[in-house]
Amino acid sequence: MNPLATELNQVLDTCVAGRLLSDRGRRLYFPKGIVAQGAEAGKLAKRHNATIGMAYEGGKPMILPSVAALTPGLDPVESVSYAPVGGVDELRQLWKEEMIRKNPSLRGVPISLPVVAPGLTPGISTAAELYVNPGDVVIIPDLFWDNYELIFTDRQQAKIVSFPFFDEAWNFNLAGLEETIRKNSGSGKIVLLLNFPNNPAGYAPRKNETAALAKVVRDAADRGVDILAIADDAYYGLFYEEGTETESVFAVFANLHERVLAVKVDGSTKEDFVWGFRVAFITHGSKGMSPEVYTALGTKTISSLRASVSNSSRLAQSIMIRVMKSPTYQAEKERKFEILRGRYAKVKEILAHRKTGRALKEIPFNSGYFMSFLCQGISADTLRRRLLDRGIGTIALQDRLLRVAFSSIEVGGLDELYREIFQAADELSAGK
Ligand SMILES: Cc1ncc(COP(=O)(O)O)c(C=O)c1O
Repeated sequence: MNPLATELNQVLDTCVAGRLLSDRGRRLYFPKGIVAQGAEAGKLAKRHNATIGMAYEGGKPMILPSVAALTPGLDPVESVSYAPVGGVDELRQLWKEEMIRKNPSLRGVPISLPVVAPGLTPGISTAAELYVNPGDVVIIPDLFWDNYELIFTDRQQAKIVSFPFFDEAWNFNLAGLEETIRKNSGSGKIVLLLNFPNNPAGYAPRKNETAALAKVVRDAADRGVDILAIADDAYYGLFYEEGTETESVFAVFANLHERVLAVKVDGSTKEDFVWGFRVAFITHGSKGMSPEVYTALGTKTISSLRASVSNSSRLAQSIMIRVMKSPTYQAEKERKFEILRGRYAKVKEILAHRKTGRALKEIPFNSGYFMSFLCQGISADTLRRRLLDRGIGTIALQDRLLRVAFSSIEVGGLDELYREIFQAADELSAGK
């Protein structure tokens, strides 16, 4: 073990973070190598800085004129230079302030400074690397983004244990969660991953459900179980109904119990409609956690990133800094939100008045990009292929769900889209 890793582990071993770290997580450290020495020189080498692997001209990073022409208004430092491994500090601060504004329960609660990752996917993979050992159980409700399989089962060699997302009354299945935690807490460690608004269900908990969810996790912690609670908040903010919880579950878990370590993975990807920018964040929170522990966790996090993606796009981060500081930022987002809410409302109206497609049962949805149909007596994949023949793209999951991304379809196209889906389903039900 590198002595720098040992030093970090000693800090983390004072609390739940150390107990949750995976073997790989324990080995990670940030080398006092090129990046650290370069950062030191950035502050002190006022005469000649010959450290970092970049090229300079006239005191600025070299830039091709055609690149400069496409990035007017941005200094070459903002457009082409490397970003720090953990992200540009100003963006990290801005994101944290915005997170607290959107989640008022976090006000006054110590949490880490978000670390930038190039997308939520590497953010989740980083959390997996830090905390999940081969063979560990990762509890995820059974409606989940299919990439979790690749990340946790195949890459990390962990075991995803699921329970039905909804109970019989079509509420979030708290009893299922409680039972699954109970059955799998023998090792004293639980990894829980929750994604609201959910892909593919399009569901976020109602306000009363969040408190009950917190109770289930707190009870397990009271029984002596250490819990890593990962919140995948990719679709955060797209809440269309009154009464839906608008705070992230991270806001609850970050101040719940000394045995609960919460990790929030979120980002500009979907919240700011910049899918290909690859700007996301990893934030830690745990009740009573000291600033030293948060710093050590930040170092472990950037160490993992240094070994995988090294750093995230500077250009995208520079644009997001400007965007988040723009006086029109909130209003611009609000307008896009209203467009998506309009599509959601249209889908609800279509479903309320439909007379066909009875083999398709919509599962409850109130948020996000998606809604899904449970296919009864017909194969979801056969339906998907039948729709493709008609020039319509949908996603079949587990051969029982048909996921429709209504976020991608203009309001004017939704009637036709759903008419085709119902017709195709009716044909299949009739054996045609
Ligand atoms: C639930 C969920 N998490 C994460 C992601 C990936 O986000 P990113 O594109 O930032 O890696 C997606 C994308 O589809 C998603 O649906």
